Amino acid sequence: MIVAANFKMHKTRKETIEYLTELKKIDFENVKVAVFPPFTALIEDELIGAQNAYPAKNGAFTGEIGLEQLREFNIKRVLLGHSERRFLNESQEFIAKKFEFYKNEGFEIFYCVGEPLEVRKKGIEEVIEYIKAQFEGIDLEYDKLIIAYEPVWAIGTGVSASEEEIQKTHLKLRELTSSPLLYGGSVKLNNIENILKIKNVDGVLVGSASLDVEVFKQMIVKAKEIKWLCKEKRDLL
Ligand code: PGA
Repeated sequence: MIVAANFKMHKTRKETIEYLTELKKIDFENVKVAVFPPFTALIEDELIGAQNAYPAKNGAFTGEIGLEQLREFNIKRVLLGHSERRFLNESQEFIAKKFEFYKNEGFEIFYCVGEPLEVRKKGIEEVIEYIKAQFEGIDLEYDKLIIAYEPVWAIGTGVSASEEEIQKTHLKLRELTSSPLLYGGSVKLNNIENILKIKNVDGVLVGSASLDVEVFKQMIVKAKEIKWLCKEKRDLL
């Protein structure tokens, strides 16, 4: 199981350090845990990944950070393609460029895909076509790829996709890739168990609910329990 926290534009460096200290009081046996803080809170820690990165070592790219800045903190994990980045006009071509660059650097890549509500309303086939376009230029065979299915309409709304929607979508995604498949979009303490029990769900990407370290710790504990309940789930470690 993989349990990842996306802080988005929340928390300072001091708060992130305190968070990690608290988080590490539980053991992560059988669970892969990742934490994506804002750039200003990047620290050298095996749990940490960057929420975004420019596809270059360094250069004249105002407001961006690249490989050189990530290397300072020994960061080897990056989140790419999040819908909140796509809203900021990141094209598929540009995201694919980032993917290629960080793949070549051996990074673990959490790659986000997901459809807007108007596409979901048209049905599962349309959803998959939409997601396939988000896979353009992405090497689905990359061994350090983790895919997060995050329907745009479920992110930050408090309304997650239904278990049936997640199950059907992940089943289709499984036909396209053997990479671990996370679900993201309003994952909370009260729905994480049911979501993790769904076939082809290998973990979760959690936004708002991860901000409270006590809640996130409990989520990890639940993920550990599910692993034993769902013996057919692949061992991802
Ligand atoms: P949410 O965010 O848990 O607040 O819906 C998920 C995400 O955007 O990764």
